[in-house]
Amino acid sequence: MAIADEIIEIGPGAGRDRGNLIYQGSYARLVGADTPTGLALTQTMSTERIPRRPGGWLSIHGANTHNVKDVSVDIPLGVLTAVSGVAGSGKSSLIHGHLPTVAPDVTLVDQGPILGSRRSTPASWTGMLDEIRRVFAKRTRQPAGLFSPNSDGGCRACEGTGITFIDLGFADPVTTPCETCQGRRFRPGALRHTVDGLTIADVFELSVDQALDVPDSFRSWIPIE
Ligand SMILES: Nc1ncnc2c1ncn2[C@@H]1O[C@H](COP(=O)(O)OP(=O)(O)OP(=O)(O)O)[C@@H](O)[C@H]1O
Ligand SMILES: [Mg+2]
Ligand SMILES: [Zn+2]
Repeated sequence: MAIADEIIEIGPGAGRDRGNLIYQGSYARLVGADTPTGLALTQTMSTERIPRRPGGWLSIHGANTHNVKDVSVDIPLGVLTAVSGVAGSGKSSLIHGHLPTVAPDVTLVDQGPILGSRRSTPASWTGMLDEIRRVFAKRTRQPAGLFSPNSDGGCRACEGTGITFIDLGFADPVTTPCETCQGRRFRPGALRHTVDGLTIADVFELSVDQALDVPDSFRSWIPIE
């Protein structure tokens, strides 16, 4: 940012929490500006003066993967540890390539797709959606499959994925929102039914914050604390 000729900040938050232009100008003026980036550049974070003590260690011995050559390292447990290095230096090769081997019980959380399916969402993965579907079925006296985009309720044009692929042959396929369902994944028959004023597609589009704001009778079906 400091070497940029011009800086544009979009925000102030993420997702529904805006997407507005909140700053444009020089770096010098951004420092101290009343925007999340401006404040982050001026406010000093307080760091741990006395680091926590690890509860144990995971040892990687003589790791050799890609460009990583005979690296041995002890990774502390129960504390926050950062692995740093320039792009391509071997961070992922070391950690992803060896941590699961030395510690098979470790749960690796990364940005990879959940279960590798484009159809899964946090709600389907956590099982929350099964509960929501049951409630829709009970309250509307329709089969639960009508409230699944992967089953009877799915848009026929995009098979419930909400997106259409345009295969360009020579280049990567381009994806666009399905024109028939506008990316909502459901067919009209499923959207005729509402519970507390919300269709199943409306429920799919709720953010967690919005879900917490919906009427109590609705929220009680969603098993989140
Ligand atoms: N599947 C692979 N097959 C062959 N070489 C690979 C593979 N994955 C990574 N490499 C090579 O190993 C080296 C280290 O890559 P790695 O992804 O571990 O680095 P990194 O530190 O995690 O980088 P980044 O910051 O970009 O995530 C790079 O030279 C990369 O090209
Ligand atoms: Mg990496
Ligand atoms: Zn569709």
